[in-house]
Amino acid sequence: MKNAVKGFSKLSKEGKIEWLVDNYFEDKQKTIDLLKSYWHQNPKVQKLHDEFIENTISNFFTPFGVAPNFLIDGKLYAIPMAIEESSVVAAAAKSASFWLERGGFKTTVVSTVKTGHVHFIYKGDGNKLRSFITDINGQFYRDTASITANMRARGGGILNIGLIDKTLEMEGYYQLEARFETCDSMGANFINSCLEQFAQTLTTAIEQSDEFTQEEKDVQVVMRILSNYTPECVVRSEVSCPVEELKDGSGIEPEEFAEKFARAVRIAEVEPYRATTHNKGIMNGIDAVVIATGNDFRAIEAACHTYASRNGKYQSLTHCEVKDGIFKFWIEVPLALGTVGGLTSLHPMVKLSLEMLDHPSASELMSIIASSGLAQNFAALRALVTTGIQKGHMKMHLLNILNQLEATEEEKKVIVEYFKDKVVSHSAAVNKFCELRGIKSPQQVIKNK
Ligand code: MEV
Repeated sequence: MKNAVKGFSKLSKEGKIEWLVDNYFEDKQKTIDLLKSYWHQNPKVQKLHDEFIENTISNFFTPFGVAPNFLIDGKLYAIPMAIEESSVVAAAAKSASFWLERGGFKTTVVSTVKTGHVHFIYKGDGNKLRSFITDINGQFYRDTASITANMRARGGGILNIGLIDKTLEMEGYYQLEARFETCDSMGANFINSCLEQFAQTLTTAIEQSDEFTQEEKDVQVVMRILSNYTPECVVRSEVSCPVEELKDGSGIEPEEFAEKFARAVRIAEVEPYRATTHNKGIMNGIDAVVIATGNDFRAIEAACHTYASRNGKYQSLTHCEVKDGIFKFWIEVPLALGTVGGLTSLHPMVKLSLEMLDHPSASELMSIIASSGLAQNFAALRALVTTGIQKGHMKMHLLNILNQLEATEEEKKVIVEYFKDKVVSHSAAVNKFCELRGIKSPQQVIKNK
């Protein structure tokens, strides 16, 4: 039985580690050494990371890679990606090079509106409430003037505020819905601050009005929060080329490739089991750049999956058309991103990523990230409908297997060379490793690792 702890957050970092190893680890010194080995050598940088969250005891490394040669709207980008999955960066880079020679990615930012709600319960006359909210609409803007001043100066702010009647779904349930333009910031804090003030303005105005009965004045504010569903903050990215230009050296004829590819996309449009995996592959490309640029990948994931279900069924986020000899492949995704505020001006690697991308606006970053998702999906489907996914994936994974086996650099070189023209599997890699070391029983090696 472990001991619960009181006041853990008040302990020093050393104190937290001490408590943790005393309660949860056998080899205490080894654990302490490991945690400390991941501290940044510069105490100032470490302090910065310590203060991002509560109870930081170390850092958790994720590889930071680059996918070059992304031609997006005529501009060439090297895209930063933070991700642990072996084949993602390689796949992105391969797709980018493929489309570089075929005109690149063309994007359109469809809209950049974000939404938030005051969820409240009101048990009175709905029509009366609706016209009252219309009457006091200006008050919402006046009461938030100091919160919105900077955003308005940058060209953003509150776009509109209205009442949504949800009483058919839940008794007495209404929303004060507000739509916002937050320019280059993701805008979560801005939106939530506005919403908290709207709730205050609403309840005070109803309380002071003679139009409502005492019972009607009993408005209960349940929550004031932005929505991470952003169907009005959407970007589209597209690649296209004549079908005959789809030759890629895999031996398959371009027409056959186009047909197989389009059919694979269609399957993800009609079949949720496949759509989930299909979209997961897209999110490989999206999340990696979202993380590298200091944005909130959980918010992006949530929005994309809701968007994928907007027609009442979970579907593919990408679409494909082969018409009049032209192959067209596109993605449409909601991406609420920021390139100012939050981590973007704090995390040194995020700052570096944004510099690598030539300091994009939020809209430009939407275009870049949507293209990364599309590239990733193109690479996955291209492999799936031709050679299969494992060939490329296992090739990239080979080094992970060899690292698990603690192979030397020389052994890795020999084994990677050996698999250049062969299919990699876990057992084939272990067998080759054993052969090289003169180990008779591969089972022994696996057991010891
Ligand atoms: C693996 O991370 C992603 C894929 O499964 C995506 C797909 O199947 O389209 C390869």
